[in-house]
Amino acid sequence: MNVLIIGSGGREHALAWKISQSPLVKKIYVAPGNAGTALENLVENIDITDIDLLSQFAIEKKIDLTIVGPEVPLSKGIVNKFRDNNLNIFGPTREAAQLESSKDFSKFFMKKHGIPTAEYKTFTDAKSAHNYIAKKGSPIVIKADGLAAGKGVVVAMNDEEAHNAIDLMLSDNQFGDAGARIIIEEFLQGEEVSFIVICDGESVLPLATSQDHKRLLDNDIGPNTGGMGAYSPAPIVSDVMHEKIMTQVINPTIDGMKAEGIKFTGFLYAGLMIDAEDNIKTLEFNCRMGDPETQPILFRLKSDLFKILFDAAKGDLKNNTAEWENNSSITVVMAAKNYPNEPRLNDEIHGLSSKNKDTYIFHAGTKLTNNKIVTAGGRVLGITARGQTLNEAKNQAYRLIDNIRFDGAQFRNDIGKKALNN
Ligand code: AMP
Ligand code: GLY
Repeated sequence: MNVLIIGSGGREHALAWKISQSPLVKKIYVAPGNAGTALENLVENIDITDIDLLSQFAIEKKIDLTIVGPEVPLSKGIVNKFRDNNLNIFGPTREAAQLESSKDFSKFFMKKHGIPTAEYKTFTDAKSAHNYIAKKGSPIVIKADGLAAGKGVVVAMNDEEAHNAIDLMLSDNQFGDAGARIIIEEFLQGEEVSFIVICDGESVLPLATSQDHKRLLDNDIGPNTGGMGAYSPAPIVSDVMHEKIMTQVINPTIDGMKAEGIKFTGFLYAGLMIDAEDNIKTLEFNCRMGDPETQPILFRLKSDLFKILFDAAKGDLKNNTAEWENNSSITVVMAAKNYPNEPRLNDEIHGLSSKNKDTYIFHAGTKLTNNKIVTAGGRVLGITARGQTLNEAKNQAYRLIDNIRFDGAQFRNDIGKKALNN
């Protein structure tokens, strides 16, 4: 079978690495991929990002399954296009991807279908938004409606930050169309969990749970990023909590989308906040796997991911199961200098070898130039390790980081610490 994976991050490297282990797979193309995918077994990177050209490529190369990593091509309708051309693709349509591509759509949807989420209000006019802050006070959360690469959310701890965020989004138009509409929502406290499932429109197969670290610096301070590290499983998700998340969030979402006439196919990622009384609130939906959550999750998966996704794309997920290693895994992200603002590119990376079967270096923003691997994006590498315990996994990952060097590398020293303290 021939597979096409769309994207270039750590998530796509992990997908390519896992899919390449399937005995059913003969060839994998990653578009555009990175230096890490280029070195994987069976993999060839192709430099195409245009949706029409990708679909032509899939026809020419007789691609049996396309897997879409990031949200942007999904929100542009890559799944609609491929299906129009009778190509087998795993992901949500443009309409289903609105769960992620419009916060206004997803909040309205959650309220309508009784899915627990923070109270909110939508604004397009700065004056009314400022008045609302004056009434509600802080802390409060301001979100751009559209896709903003993880940067469209401001958790304002005081009124001034809230007013500034409104001006940035609605008056200065900093996020373009994505910020022309904003939502302002209640500030929630608790522990965040990433809960990701595979859907074929009818059946649902949950993946192992995980937890991400969104802030740049140790102890959850500094700016929000795409994610600086993750681990799996998330100990806060007990069997009882798992059941509660399925009943209160996942099943009503799939059923609700069906009731709206929009079958949800693809990865559905619920970003959840769990408070001290075990109440769940949905912070956001993503219509794809998380990055970096994918890396530690797939590092524990025993089952053949290709078969599961191939069946799911054909609406045949029902008889599939996912078997997991009974261990813990962790990914520590190494990011470029100045990430998340203006990451510096083209720093040479040294020490990229991992000989231990319990560690792996997933590439994200890397490229190969003149036989050297250099930084080519904000998040550069995902240093991944597994162990019988999270502590063991964590120690392995940090030992490996000691050998890897590039100028200006930033990484957190406390990935997994929260779970270890519980
Ligand atoms: P989102 O893209 O909506 O998940 O927001 C990005 C991050 O902002 C989340 O992972 C949380 O850390 C934080 N956040 C979002 N909404 C809230 C909220 N209502 N209360 C507190 N923190 C939030
Ligand atoms: N790690 C968070 C995300 O993928 O959105």
